[in-house]
Amino acid sequence: MADEVLLKEEREGLVRLTLNRPEVMNAFNFALLQALKAEIEALRFRPEVRVVVITGAGDKAFCAGADLKERATFTPLQVKEFIYTIRDLFTQIEGLNKPVIAAVNGVALGGGTELALACDLRLAAATATMGLTETRLAIIPGAGGTQRLPRLVGRGKAKELIFTGRRVGAEEALAMGLVNQVHPLEGLPAAWEALAAAIAETGPIAIEQAKYAIDKGLEVDLHTGLAIESNAYWVTIPTKDRLEGLAAFREKRKPVYRGE
Ligand code: COA
Repeated sequence: MADEVLLKEEREGLVRLTLNRPEVMNAFNFALLQALKAEIEALRFRPEVRVVVITGAGDKAFCAGADLKERATFTPLQVKEFIYTIRDLFTQIEGLNKPVIAAVNGVALGGGTELALACDLRLAAATATMGLTETRLAIIPGAGGTQRLPRLVGRGKAKELIFTGRRVGAEEALAMGLVNQVHPLEGLPAAWEALAAAIAETGPIAIEQAKYAIDKGLEVDLHTGLAIESNAYWVTIPTKDRLEGLAAFREKRKPVYRGE
C-alpha cells in the first residue's frame, strides 16, 4: 500500500525491507523507525530467513537521514527520544543474528549512511552519494556514525568526512572501503540477489557465529578475540549441519543445511 512507510517482500529465505517515503527521500520519521524496529525484532526469531536486504523506494534515495521537517516540530526532549531510538535500532540491526545487506540505491546522507554502516555489507548504485553531513546542521552523527565510520574506513578518513560533511560518490566510497561493491543502478537488485544467494548456500549457524566472532572480536584484543572465535566454533561442532557438510562432500553433492 502506498501509505505504508516500510514495505516487506519475502522469498526463499530472503527478506527485502524497503524504506518507503520517496517524497522525502526516504527520510526517517518516528513512524518509519518504529516500523523498521518491529520488523528487525521479529526477524531475529525466524531461522528460515537467511539474509535481510534494506533498500530505499524509488531511484533517487536510499535514505536522506532524519526527517528534518518532522525534526523542526520536536521539543529538545523529543529530539533526544528520536536519537535514542534510531541509535538503538541501528545497533539492533548490527547485532541481528543473520547478515544484513544495505542496497544503497541513491542518496544516503546522515542517518542514511549510518544505517548502511550498521549493515554487514554495503552494495551501492553507481549513482549513490553518501556522507555524514550532520556537522553542517550544527549537530553530530548520532546513530553510530562517529563510531562505525572510523572502524570501517579509518580514523583519518572518518574525521575528514565528519569534519567537512562532504558527500562522496560511489566510486570514492568504494576506494575507501565504505562500500563493498558498486553496480549500475539497474543492476543493483541482481547484485544483492546474487550475494544473498551465495550466503544462502552456507550453514546458517556458521554465519551467525562468524558474524558474532568478527563483530565482537574486533572490539577486543587479539587474544580475547581468538577466545571468542574458539567459543563460536564450538557452537558449530554439535550441529547436524556440520555432519551434513561432511556427508555432502563425501557423496559429491550439494549440502542441504537446515540450521540445526
Ligand atoms: N528530511 C525531510 N525532507 C527531506 C529530507 C530530509 N532529511 N531530505 C530531502 N527531503 C525532501 C525535500 O525537502 C524535498 O521535499 P519538498 O519538495 O517538499 O521540498 C524532497 O525531499 C526532495 O528533495 P530535494 O532537496 O528537492 O532534492 P535534491 O535532489 O535537490 O536533494 C538531498 C536531495 C537529499 C541532497 C537534499 O534534499 C538534502 O540535502 N537533504 C538533507 C539531507 C540531510 O542533511 N540529512 C541529514 C539529516 S541529519
